Amino acid sequence: MKIVVLAAGTSTEREVSIVSGTEVCKALRSRGHQAILVDVFFGKEGADPATAFDGDYDVDVEAAYISSFNAQVKDAVASGREFFGPGVIELCKAADVVFMALHGANGEDGRVQAYFDLCGIPYTGTGYLSSAMAMDKGITKKIFRTSGVPTPRGVELKKGKDSMNLADYNMELPVVVKTCCGGSSVGVYITKTPEEYEEALKGAFSYEDEVVVEEYIEGREFSVGVVDGKAYPIIEIAPVEGFYDYKNKYSAGATIDTCPAVLTEEQTRQMQTYAEAGCKALAVEGYARLDFLMKEDGSMYCLEANTLPGMTPTSLLPQEAAVLGIDYAQLCEKLIEISMR
Ligand code: DAL
Ligand code: MG
Repeated sequence: MKIVVLAAGTSTEREVSIVSGTEVCKALRSRGHQAILVDVFFGKEGADPATAFDGDYDVDVEAAYISSFNAQVKDAVASGREFFGPGVIELCKAADVVFMALHGANGEDGRVQAYFDLCGIPYTGTGYLSSAMAMDKGITKKIFRTSGVPTPRGVELKKGKDSMNLADYNMELPVVVKTCCGGSSVGVYITKTPEEYEEALKGAFSYEDEVVVEEYIEGREFSVGVVDGKAYPIIEIAPVEGFYDYKNKYSAGATIDTCPAVLTEEQTRQMQTYAEAGCKALAVEGYARLDFLMKEDGSMYCLEANTLPGMTPTSLLPQEAAVLGIDYAQLCEKLIEISMR
């Protein structure tokens, strides 16, 4: 097949997407496909698509990566590379399918999916509506609540509009403050004191005008992929230090991942059922990966659904697939196959 692997983008997860895209592209080529990796900033007509992105990557998670992402986006704009320019669209139209390796805003949030629908371009993953709903953690929470999927109690707060006083929402510290539409834990803060809460609001509002504040759940962290409506084996993520933040997500060896997770049969069934129900409630087609916390007493909470989950060497969905005997390249092909039905 002729496949465009669309990656990079403008979100805070640009660098993660570059890694996902590169891996997917390499894997699809290894299976005999004509795959090219395309940066959404590749806009110059007549340029060689192969040089739109050469496939090399070097992600330094220790670096102040937010500023580096800003610099890359600025550089792309300054050099005349247009976001979603004609070069990108021509390449996507010429492909049999576009493999979506974008993460976060302007990629995972339904905008690109809606545009592809209008252009008749087939792509992997779910459609625009479920992408948009799942990207917004506040909306997701409301949908989960009405669908019987347990989720931590929380509120959405708009900058300059809503009270930031926790007591007004019958909430108290500790709480988690997170950007409404972020990913990879960028802009996520666990706050235990009023000072930390103030700082966290400042931090989260520096990314977006809307944040979610939710009760802090202390417990084990899990993730469950749902592919074609069926839950994959559950993975437990135990960060060596702290929580599963950006650094821990993308540094090899920073977490101990166990798949299948050590849970009772009943707990396993329950979490997988919630994951499948969460996807159904958000109208997810194709695939997604849902993140969970479980308290010591066994109560479970679904935090969110990721409709374009990471495909990096440390990412979770590929590890879950491996337990089922599906290797990385086979998983990429499977995601294409189910999306094209
Ligand atoms: N948002 C990242 C890519 C994930 O969920 O894997
Ligand atoms: Mg996410």
